[in-house]
Amino acid sequence: MQPDHTAELARLLGERILVLDGAMGTMIQQCRLGERDFRGRFHDHPRDLAGDNDLLSLTQPQAIATIHDAYFEAGADLVETNTFNATRIAQADYGMESEVSAINEAAARIARESADRWTRRTPERPRFVAGALGPTNRTASLSPDVNDPGARNVTFDELVTAYGLTSFLDYYYLLRYDASPAHWDALMNRLAVPETFFCRQFDQMTALARVIAPAFFAANPRRPLRIWSAACCTGEEPLSIAMALDQVGLLEGNSIQIDATDGSPAMIERARAGAYAGRSFRQLSDDVRAKYFEPDGDRWRPDARLLRNIRWNVANLARPDEVERYATADVIFCRNVFIYFADEAIRSVLRVFSKHMPPDGYLFLGASESLTRLGVDLELVEIGGAFGYVKEGRRPLVEQERFSTADVSAARRALL
Ligand SMILES: C[S@@+](CC[C@H](N)C(=O)[O-])C[C@H]1O[C@@H](n2cnc3c(N)ncnc32)[C@H](O)[C@@H]1O
Repeated sequence: MQPDHTAELARLLGERILVLDGAMGTMIQQCRLGERDFRGRFHDHPRDLAGDNDLLSLTQPQAIATIHDAYFEAGADLVETNTFNATRIAQADYGMESEVSAINEAAARIARESADRWTRRTPERPRFVAGALGPTNRTASLSPDVNDPGARNVTFDELVTAYGLTSFLDYYYLLRYDASPAHWDALMNRLAVPETFFCRQFDQMTALARVIAPAFFAANPRRPLRIWSAACCTGEEPLSIAMALDQVGLLEGNSIQIDATDGSPAMIERARAGAYAGRSFRQLSDDVRAKYFEPDGDRWRPDARLLRNIRWNVANLARPDEVERYATADVIFCRNVFIYFADEAIRSVLRVFSKHMPPDGYLFLGASESLTRLGVDLELVEIGGAFGYVKEGRRPLVEQERFSTADVSAARRALL
């Protein structure tokens, strides 16, 4: 196995611009190779092979090595492997699917040997190899037939199988260059972690019901209070918010709108179906469950009163256009979802929140999700005995600590 040159490459990139090689296809054309040259040892193969440039790594390795050498000689620091179409899908055009592994291995070896040769000549200037992954020569989202817009020349499953899901990079390319909405939905459904339950981190809902909502209605008698549950999963979170508001008599007789969204269409479908079982109730007493839910076989269905103010929709937090309109909500619950995001992805979502949140809006996150290390323009406040975030430097709707922790305990006892 070759030593790992990543650190050396990173160091050099910090010092100077490194040059990548140019196109492989045009260089191969200049070699003027014919069918017999492409075939090499595959002389009995039943299909034409001229044009299968990736196959040349097996049948004309010297030609490929010469091209790499020419790029290194011209000043390239890195050459890419001759593997742009070395996938089962692309090779199927030539009936060469069975050779895909051998092609990739040979291409990597030829490029490596060329790079090593040049590095030996000028050790002060090491040369590198970049593995090339083509996005395949087919598209899963467009029809190849103008008369049949629904036709596809490859399915999602075929693409996934072709890429073998052995590399996240392969899958990344697939999603990046060839993904239809259905691909993303399938991915979101697979990634969703449906771990949630009624009245989870109930202190924040209590703060909403007992402190934020009364202050909001006092300050805005004519406006609806807009609440957004931004990763609502199967619906337990928005339903619990409705319960908390009902406990203090605010659910009815006030204009309250709860938008409940999730990135996974399957979760929203289950939320709309509204049939809950044992584990969702792990924190509710039997009395409270009986107050807000109707038994239905081995499941429980939420009371219509709780559902009246809730609107269910699919929205991916990573897509600003999908979440902007919800981010104008007065109170955002975005809990236990940032744990799955990279820091930069969290920052991007927060930029959208912060841009659209009202000046005195509130954001509640999960107990293990802190923004303090991310350097965003939201500041942590204690509100009604719970922790939330407000826009930095803005006037929050209510004074801090107006609600004592004793009141929170009493509210929790009433519901849980
Ligand atoms: C662990 S659950 C949290 C549910 C609820 N907020 C709670 O705290 O109990 C995480 C939810 O985040 C959703 N999710 C993951 N990535 C998302 C994204 N990019 N946009 C919207 N929802 C996403 C998942 O589908 C899943 O339903």
